Amino acid sequence: MTTQTIKVGICGLGTVGEGEIALLSEGGDVLSNRVGGTIELVHVATRTPKPEVDTLGARDSRDVFDVARDPNVDVLIELIGGTTVAKELVVEALNQGKHVVTANKALLADALRFEAAVAGGIPVIEAVKTSLAGNHVSSVAGIINGTGNFILTEMAAKGREFSDVLAEAQALGYAEADPTFDVDGTDAAQKLVLLASLAFGARIDPDAPFKQGVDSVAPADIEYARELGYRIKHLGIAKHASDALQLRVHPTLIPEAKAIAQVDGVLNAVMINASGVGELLLVGPGAGSRPTASAVMADVVSLARSIASNEQPSIHSMGVGVSTMSQPVICDINEVASAWYLRLDAEDKPGVMASLTQCLSQCGIGIESLIQKPESAALAKVPVILMTDEAPTRAVEQAIANIEALPSVGGPVACLRVENF
Ligand code: HSE
Repeated sequence: MTTQTIKVGICGLGTVGEGEIALLSEGGDVLSNRVGGTIELVHVATRTPKPEVDTLGARDSRDVFDVARDPNVDVLIELIGGTTVAKELVVEALNQGKHVVTANKALLADALRFEAAVAGGIPVIEAVKTSLAGNHVSSVAGIINGTGNFILTEMAAKGREFSDVLAEAQALGYAEADPTFDVDGTDAAQKLVLLASLAFGARIDPDAPFKQGVDSVAPADIEYARELGYRIKHLGIAKHASDALQLRVHPTLIPEAKAIAQVDGVLNAVMINASGVGELLLVGPGAGSRPTASAVMADVVSLARSIASNEQPSIHSMGVGVSTMSQPVICDINEVASAWYLRLDAEDKPGVMASLTQCLSQCGIGIESLIQKPESAALAKVPVILMTDEAPTRAVEQAIANIEALPSVGGPVACLRVENF
């Protein structure tokens, strides 16, 4: 049995960096037994000093490139975020012959296209790469942004304001450094690209997914969806349809009886449909210090095992072979069909419902149900909620333009996709 010491350096001491040091410090003999050697933290670099963090006696630097160039470091853990300096840092570390572990999905989606930090503590990447290797995956759909799910859950359960819940998610370390990425769907789209690349063995452009942010959900939509027997979740969806790949991130009405509709708070969930196993749902913490550090630690242990046993990291731990990746046709979002939820305010007078249904039928859209809320003395118009049959995005957008042009309708039409899975 080898007694090799694997020396790691951490760049960045934010939420995940602190969690990583805690896990290293607590790991002790358990980690050593798993690795067949010891993992020692030898170097930490942060732009601003963090005297409050116990760095276990490691060398402390202000320049992250000092870690990349430190001959004492075997494995560099990149936790600084962003794509510019982080990319240079990873390239420098690889040039220096080091192994690299990262939780940076923006960098992976942008520069490397696969492997990654998806769904926080859920070991979904390993599941897709290794455990489902005998399956053909037909779809992946997931709640893959913890901040967005936390916001929707708090709005639904306690009627809290969007901005108030987002501020709490930032304080808890769930949100990205730039929370716009959580709100506008960018973070979820980056994760979807990574997941889909692995699940479909495909090379996917990071800008390929359609994005609609969690901020397009109003409290009224959460309430009406519930009345109709649905929950609203912000989903990333990748699925094969007619020889092309749908890639989309958007708030989605899901029947409340589906297990994924019950996944609340900062939890993430990934639902995979595959030829052998059928439908699989993986649920767990999607963000936060220790859950994300747990995923980073899994990569560190996997690498350290290979180093300790003098093996090259095995091909399955390095992701799908780049040379065998396909270049899929991505569906035009305008042609992607689903059922729809529409909400609008309309005058409560004879003929209005007829003109609404006419706008939809002219675009070939059938109505599944229509609810008109009771008249109120305070409102000149009343809310109307329509659930449609399946229709392509292009037809729904045309119908909405026609509805918004009706004199009896006030303001914009709120519009969300419905997935019955
Ligand atoms: N901001 C991300 C989220 C962190 O909320 O899911 C984990 O990737």
